[in-house]
Order: sequence, then structure tokens, then C-alpha cells
Amino acid sequence: MAIYLDHAATTPISEIALAEFNKQLQQIGNPSSLHNFGREQRRALEEAREKIANFISCAPSEIIFTGSGTEADNLAIKGLFWKSQKSGKKVIVISSFEHKAVLEPAEWLVEKEGAELIQIPITSEGIVDLNFLINLISDRGQEIALISVMHSNNEIGALQPIDEVIKIAGDIPVHCDAVQSLLKVPVTFEGLTALTISAHKIGGPVGVGALVLKRGFDIPALLHGGGQEREIRSGTLNAPAICAFAAALTTYPTDAVTALRDQLISGIRDSIPNALINTPAHALPGIVNVSFPGTKGETLLLLMDMEGIACSTGSACSAGVHRPSHVLIALGRSEDEAIGTLRLSLGAQSTRADIDRVLEVLPNVVEKARLAK
Ligand SMILES: Cc1ncc(COP(=O)(O)O)c(C=O)c1O
Repeated sequence: MAIYLDHAATTPISEIALAEFNKQLQQIGNPSSLHNFGREQRRALEEAREKIANFISCAPSEIIFTGSGTEADNLAIKGLFWKSQKSGKKVIVISSFEHKAVLEPAEWLVEKEGAELIQIPITSEGIVDLNFLINLISDRGQEIALISVMHSNNEIGALQPIDEVIKIAGDIPVHCDAVQSLLKVPVTFEGLTALTISAHKIGGPVGVGALVLKRGFDIPALLHGGGQEREIRSGTLNAPAICAFAAALTTYPTDAVTALRDQLISGIRDSIPNALINTPAHALPGIVNVSFPGTKGETLLLLMDMEGIACSTGSACSAGVHRPSHVLIALGRSEDEAIGTLRLSLGAQSTRADIDRVLEVLPNVVEKARLAK
């Protein structure tokens, strides 16, 4: 039986979310229409909005639904920059291991809009260097348009000190990408200006995300049209997907997943010489990132796939691209170490038998990959 250990790329839709999705797909009506069908869709959608808002401690009106986490990140980075640019602030500060959905729009703003990008280094424990941020703000605080630090890293699972970042930032708007953290660890909107979430990482459908944006803090739109979502994100609201997103917000088996992760990490340490665990102690329950120097991640991945185990070399978005991960380089790994890396990400459905099977085949896979390089 195939084993799926790529839950950080996307996790299967949960039964409860699928039931809600199917139910809502059979309803007629645009939620913006004023007739009875439309009003009924709107009612279901607003209930979903309220449930999501309660889950992350924000006001329902602060949620702007989007088509993905990527869209929400783009909206946040570009929108917050354009808003602050009006008062002459041009510096964008992000952590040096942000997801490409944050990094790429920031680099685009440098190229097209005259922004300056400063990346906060990562300590060897996989945490943003807060002293760097403190010094940066004391030197150039007046020039900073926004700060973006992710809640947890998608490749190594490292959890970030968001409360500290918010305190240090003072009046500077802070955006946080919590796509990987939602449901797995507590996530709150408190103190933030903007927050990104996405449904398909928590057992909801693909194709719906949200930007949570502080009330009264309106930013320029990327999509113009019918004026939905505070005129920040036009487009007919995807009511079935939004309702299923809310339905997916149930409980997560944190203890069970953490125990499996720890079993996997100690099994790898015991059985594979030179394995370098890149996932730090303070991390999400489900991610194990490990480097095997002298191998190539793509070879490891294909050999694992031949054994019926699906995993990843890191972020799904850069899969297939033979470049060392910027996350592992930011963490201080060498190119050789970074290239020979696997990410095994566990989910609510993962079992002890899955981990036993991985530990059974992995030493041989690594051996073969070392010979193949
Ligand atoms: C940290 C992080 N941010 C953003 C995204 C993009 O989310 P989506 O797949 O909904 O576009 C991902 C997905 O891999 C992610 O892990």
C-alpha cells in the first residue's frame, strides 16, 4: 500500500469538509445576488467566515477570501508596500526563508517598483534573528513599509517567535504567513496587520485561501471587478470551497503526529550515519526535514517513490528544480547538504506502520542514492 508523506504539500480533504463541499456545490445562486437563492448562499458563506474568524481571533469583516495562499501572500506584500510607499517608505523586510509566495512578490517590487528588500538571517536553531531586526528598526525603522515573517517554515517546520516580532515592529505593519501552522498549532491574528491562510493544507479543498487584514487598513486591490471583499478582492465568492474550508477547521491529532515524528527522527538518527536533521526542536508536529550528504534529493525522492512512499525534496513549488533550497542555505547548510535533502511530512492519517516502513527502506535508499551520485 502506498504511503503518503507529503502532507505539507497538500493534505487529503477531510470527510467533514468533503461532505460540506458536496452539499454546497448542489446549491444554486451567487452569494452576491439579492434573490432567495443568493441570500441562502450568502448566509452559509457568512457562517463559514464567522467560524474561521473565531478560530483565529479576528473579526469576520477582517477576512478577505482569495483563491489560494499564494494570492493572499501577493495581496499582502504588494498591498502593504503600495500603501506605505505613499508616505515614502520603501524597505520590505522578510525572513530569509519565506515561502516563494512572499519572496517572489517582494523581489518583483524591487525590480518594478523601486523597493529595497532586506532579509532577516536565520539562526542555527531555525529562528529569525531578532537582534538583527531590533538593530535594523533602530537604524532604519522610518523607512520600513512592512515586515513579513512566516508562522512556521514549510520545509523544516521551524516555528517562529511572531509575538516577539510584533513587539519589536512597534507601528510597522507585520504580515505573517500561517499557511503551514493553521490547525496544527495555535494561530491568532492578534497584533498583526495581515495574516495568510489556505484551506488545502488543513483538509479543505484546493483553490481557496484568505488574507486576514486589519479593519480600516485597506490596501490597493490586485483584482478589480465587482467589488467583493471590501473591494480588495473582486470575483464571485467560491461559497462551496469557503464553507468546506470552515468545516475543515476541526481538531488535529497533535500528540499522535508529534509522537510519530519523534519516532521517525530518532529512527533515522539510529540507522543512517551522517544524516543531518534540519527540523529544529521547536517545530510543527508533522515535518521531518533531513539531509543525507553525498546524495541528490531528486534521486532519494524517486527511490522512495519506487518503494511506494510519497515525499518531497522540500517545497512542492520548487520540486523538479535542481537547485539547493534557499531555506536550507539560510539555515547554514552547505550546497552539498542542501541538495541531498528529503522532507517527510506527516498528517492526521499517518500511522505507526507508515513510519516503520520508512525506517525499513530508508537506509537502503540512502545507500543507493550515494552510489548513484
Ligand atoms: C508557507 C506557505 N505559504 C504559502 C503557500 C502557498 O499556498 P497555496 O498552495 O494555497 O497557494 C504554501 C504552500 O505550499 C506554504 O507552504
